[in-house]
Amino acid sequence: MFTLGIETSCDETSCSVTRHGKVLSNIVSSSVKYHSPFGGIVPEIASRYHLEYIDHVYREALEAAGVKSSSIKLICVTEGPGLMGSLLVGVSYAKALGYALKIPVIGVDHIYAHILANFLNKKFQQKPSFPFIGLVVSGGHTSLFLCRDFYNNQIVGQTLDDAAGEAFDKVAKILGLGYPGGPIIEKKAGKYNGCDKIHFPRALMSKPSLDFSFSGLKTSVLYHAAKRKLSKKNITEIAYSFQEAAVDVLMVKSINACQKFNISTLLVGGGVSCNRRLAMRLKKECSEKNINVFIPKKEYCLDNAAMIGFAGAMRFQNQNRHASKPIPYASKAYK
Ligand code: KG4
Ligand code: ZN
Repeated sequence: MFTLGIETSCDETSCSVTRHGKVLSNIVSSSVKYHSPFGGIVPEIASRYHLEYIDHVYREALEAAGVKSSSIKLICVTEGPGLMGSLLVGVSYAKALGYALKIPVIGVDHIYAHILANFLNKKFQQKPSFPFIGLVVSGGHTSLFLCRDFYNNQIVGQTLDDAAGEAFDKVAKILGLGYPGGPIIEKKAGKYNGCDKIHFPRALMSKPSLDFSFSGLKTSVLYHAAKRKLSKKNITEIAYSFQEAAVDVLMVKSINACQKFNISTLLVGGGVSCNRRLAMRLKKECSEKNINVFIPKKEYCLDNAAMIGFAGAMRFQNQNRHASKPIPYASKAYK
């Protein structure tokens, strides 16, 4: 079944065509350069960009997949969480298209889709198998899921304040490095060749809870930076030490979750999972503990419609088994 995925929750306008989990096209158009001068996402700019580009992105996705609109049998669209105006553009477009094509439209949870993005990786010899722990590390969320089936999952830990990606973005802003902060911090940290000199706090590490907290880490960087003149060397040292602290927490909490529930598979997703230091340290630590780690390739770590199409198709197929959970936006008249 050809499935159209639509993602407009934040600053990426994306449409994809997938079929049985295979990605035929995944077009992403980002408004990030219009937000950069403001040091973060400006919701009004994001929604206006979606409105202007969504139709072009949709047509490009069909063309790249070599598929006509009449072949699409299901539309999956991000229903949340995200920026209200941006979500509205995607959902309205999906509903109008579903009405015109007389096909069902299904709402998808953006956060959970980030975990399922791991099923899109063809290069893995082994596809992830249930049960697993899912770690989502994005600009707005840091959550640990216990997943027993495609749509049988529960949140077992989440951030009490800032998300991991948000901490990267805020630290980059403190250091005057620009937006989005994650890739810039990673690049700066990679240039540091000393040892972990500044010990920034790792919150809630000694607690059995699987929750996270990153706002103290960010504030600690702020106070540290305010006390000195920021030279190039200082910046790389701070970037490195901050990244180590954030990675430590994400790694320890994810492994604790696996051990607590006696699970040997970990799936990571969301923008921060692009971070090579996080990937390297997770893989090393997990292999010592006999935990299989899956991280999507970069284009599926960041916001994209392919993960939405896949997650929605799975939900559509599972709907009879989970009949108690209503499917938003599914137009019964057109099923
Ligand atoms: O998942 P995503 O594309 O959008 C949301 O759903 O939020 O994640 C964006 C976040 C931003 O905070 C960005 O700074 C962070 O992912 N990010 C990174 C890296 N690349 C993107 N964080 C750390 N290291 C990276 N290489
Ligand atoms: Zn995301």
